[in-house]
Amino acid sequence: MTVAAIVPAAGSGQRLGGGTPKAFRLLAGTTMLRRSAEVVAGCVDSVIVAVPARWHDAAIVDLADTGCPVTVVVGGSTRQESVLAALAVLPPSVEIVLVHDAARPLMPSAVGVAVVAAVRAGAPAVVPALSVADTLKTVNTSGRVTGTVDRAGLVAVQTPQGFSREVLMRAHRAASSTATDDAALVEALGIPVHTIPGDPAGFKITTPCDVVMAEALLGGRA
Ligand code: CTP
Ligand code: MG
Repeated sequence: MTVAAIVPAAGSGQRLGGGTPKAFRLLAGTTMLRRSAEVVAGCVDSVIVAVPARWHDAAIVDLADTGCPVTVVVGGSTRQESVLAALAVLPPSVEIVLVHDAARPLMPSAVGVAVVAAVRAGAPAVVPALSVADTLKTVNTSGRVTGTVDRAGLVAVQTPQGFSREVLMRAHRAASSTATDDAALVEALGIPVHTIPGDPAGFKITTPCDVVMAEALLGGRA
């Protein structure tokens, strides 16, 4: 079965700051975009990345020789619109789609391999998941704690998330509101979403502190 990966990379990185869109920030000399494309390049037949309009040509240069054919499209104003823009150019032969955020450049490739294997084995939707380490509480608008959530039934999910093409397309066409991941759109259709073990190294780079941690991890393998 033919597999493609979509890498949404069109965000501005407001929480990280610094001017340059997050995906084009360097981590130990290599962009987060290139590192994230390389996470999935080994287990797919092609990669489609969605980037800010002004960064289209820079992305083509950045992604040369990733070992897999890459198409660059211009993303939208939300992550969901960026994924949709990439889905619009998905080759007709593709049967399985991975979606991997450019904000998770250190996810081990083995997780992508496991996600693809689970979709090949028949799961319509698969997400990497980790147990939650912190104690979680609900708060009211003034920040006062209103309760403690039972952690036992909670996981934090990561990318790459994998889908049968038909399920992902249907989920995006049916989307009535904005979701922060693709699995949420599939869940909304009542289609089961399966989990496989995620990896702590695949943490999402959101703030300057995350960049420091990523560069420290890369210290030994940059
Ligand atoms: N993304 C995208 N198009 C958007 C917004 C986000 O493709 N309009 C992508 C980001 O580039 C990122 C992923 O979705 O790879 C997850 O988003 P997030 O971590 O929130 O990145 P940003 O939106 O760039 O960051 P922030 O929310 O801090 O502005
Ligand atoms: Mg965002």
